[in-house]
Amino acid sequence: MSRLKHFSRAGELDAWLTGLSSTATARQLNRRDRTRLDDDLRLLHSSGMLEGAPGDDRLRPRLTFPDTRGRTADGAPSEHLEFRELERQREMRRHMAEPQEEENVPRSPVPVNPEPGIRSEQDKQVTAALPHHQDWIMSRHRLRATFDSVAACYQEARPDYPAELYSDLLAITGVTPPARLLEVGCGPGKATLPLARMGFPITAIELGAALAAEARHRLAEFADVSVIMSSFEDWEPPTGVRYDLAYAATAWKWLDPEVKYAKAAKLLTPGGHLAVWNADHAMPAGFDPFFTEIQNVYEEIGEAHDGPWPPPPPEDRLDPIPAEFDASGDFMVIGTRLYVWALRYTADEYIALLDTFSGHIAMEPAKSQHLYQEIRRRLAARPDGRLTRHWSVALTIGRRL
Ligand SMILES: C[S@@+](CC[C@H](N)C(=O)[O-])C[C@H]1O[C@@H](n2cnc3c(N)ncnc32)[C@H](O)[C@@H]1O
Repeated sequence: MSRLKHFSRAGELDAWLTGLSSTATARQLNRRDRTRLDDDLRLLHSSGMLEGAPGDDRLRPRLTFPDTRGRTADGAPSEHLEFRELERQREMRRHMAEPQEEENVPRSPVPVNPEPGIRSEQDKQVTAALPHHQDWIMSRHRLRATFDSVAACYQEARPDYPAELYSDLLAITGVTPPARLLEVGCGPGKATLPLARMGFPITAIELGAALAAEARHRLAEFADVSVIMSSFEDWEPPTGVRYDLAYAATAWKWLDPEVKYAKAAKLLTPGGHLAVWNADHAMPAGFDPFFTEIQNVYEEIGEAHDGPWPPPPPEDRLDPIPAEFDASGDFMVIGTRLYVWALRYTADEYIALLDTFSGHIAMEPAKSQHLYQEIRRRLAARPDGRLTRHWSVALTIGRRL
């Protein structure tokens, strides 16, 4: 029982479970981790903290999901519906089983000790409370540090976010310069530059030293933009400073679920906003068959797609972030948006893109060499040598409660 004292309140437990069900941490759960998670859920059950019999489908009865399919086109708050138990559990299982990770994150990450000082106090507590989760916390820490090794090529290889995303963000939140913005995980400045150009003062927090240096270089002309090298969890903000909008672009999933919402809320002005979005590979109707054909290569190298192929089209994928906002108790969702677009890539461009995904960066060189050779061979057989990759970005905007 003492192992579980970390979850002293139902809200904390729900937030933790919601965090598990989503984003990179859950996406990186391999089969062994899932078994361990089930063990821990059984343990939580036996402590009376979860309802239902162990192994029962209703082990996570307090979690609710927003009906993202019901999002309105005009930015009205997404409607939050109670799903029937079975339906909800099906969604839950889909999230646990289906990777929505950065391009085939390794299924069996070898845990390594993260750099000293990088783990937050809260992560340490979770680790102490549930030792089985040490592995996936460590794999999250290991993978999130991979981006720094590709700092020089990240900006060019990754696509820009759609201009509508920024206009929707400003329309829904009502923020205008000189409102103060806080960005978490800015990388080389992909989502910092467009907002800096609009005249916003921005404080950007970036874990990687090389990425922070890239961002500083790219943002040098903006006197009101500063880039701080730190993990968000460990960053100590200047006393008394509050922000009108905090945002994270394809970075939120790498943060400690136990810390991120509460810390963001504390840093915001009353009524301030948090916006989170994530760029994913989308498979809408008519997606390029290249991606189905290349799956056997991923299987050969032991990096098979987890879950049914193809994944559902972007409009049918449940974005877990609105539910996380609600479960945090710190934010009310006031708008969600989905953007889908397509880009054409040559083999070189596509491989450069893959080289910026944590799963590919962490891949054994022999495996990535084989994969890249196959990509080149297959694209060389096409008349124009290109593939079409669809992107989706799900944006969630919440107001601080
Ligand atoms: C996929 S990249 C996204 C970069 C950029 N925001 C974008 O939209 O392309 C994730 C970024 O989050 C950073 N990051 C990961 N964990 C972090 C943490 N705990 N605190 C601050 N930054 C973090 C990584 O170093 C990396 O730059």
